Amino acid sequence: MADSPVSGPGGRIVIVAAVARNGVIGRENRLLWRLKTDMRHFRALTMGRPILMGRKTFDSIGKPLPGRHSVVITRDPGWSHEGVAVAHDPEAGLALARALAARHGQDEVIIGGGSEIYRHFMPLADRLEITEVELAPEGDALFPRIDPQIWRETSRQSFTKNADDEAEFRFVSYLRR
Ligand SMILES: NC(=O)c1ccc[n+]([C@@H]2O[C@H](COP(=O)([O-])OP(=O)(O)OC[C@H]3O[C@@H](n4cnc5c(N)ncnc54)[C@H](OP(=O)(O)O)[C@@H]3O)[C@@H](O)[C@H]2O)c1
Repeated sequence: MADSPVSGPGGRIVIVAAVARNGVIGRENRLLWRLKTDMRHFRALTMGRPILMGRKTFDSIGKPLPGRHSVVITRDPGWSHEGVAVAHDPEAGLALARALAARHGQDEVIIGGGSEIYRHFMPLADRLEITEVELAPEGDALFPRIDPQIWRETSRQSFTKNADDEAEFRFVSYLRR
């Protein structure tokens, strides 16, 4: 595995995102597709691990994800929610998530979006777990470009559209070169 530029106690940084062909990840603070298989995949990748997200993404989910420690990043000093750890900048959020990971014997922290938070953590991440969704919807939230000079694809698994999943999609993993 490639060395992380920021590997530290509490573990590797893993970005998990579902991204349409045109880079769109959401519109008006919601997801744009129904993929049950991807929801199960997200759960498997994230269960037991701290998950770091922006306040807007947290609002779109509306509650902490069961079985995961949610760390929400906001500039609002008054923001709080039961069962959620709060940080006021991404570095503090990462430190908090890593402390939670270390305390619970985990070696990864998950970056769960949205667009602003992915952009911030892209240069720091060790691994990307991307669901490529074979749709191109209009949207206002985008995933940053995955630069092949920086990221090496390590696995790819394709799925067809079916009763549970409204589009074709692929699970693609990348490690930093
Ligand atoms: N497809 C996927 O996998 C996926 C995953 C997650 C989210 N999404 C989508 O992404 C969209 C949301 O993304 P977004 O970019 O609009 O919002 P976001 O990244 O979820 O949250 C942005 C918020 O985070 C806080 N924040 C960001 N940078 C900060 C900093 N440097 N210091 C302190 N706080 C900071 C601010 O909160 P305050 O305004 O409270 O200060 C900011 O408004 C939604 O459409 C959602 O459905 C998609």
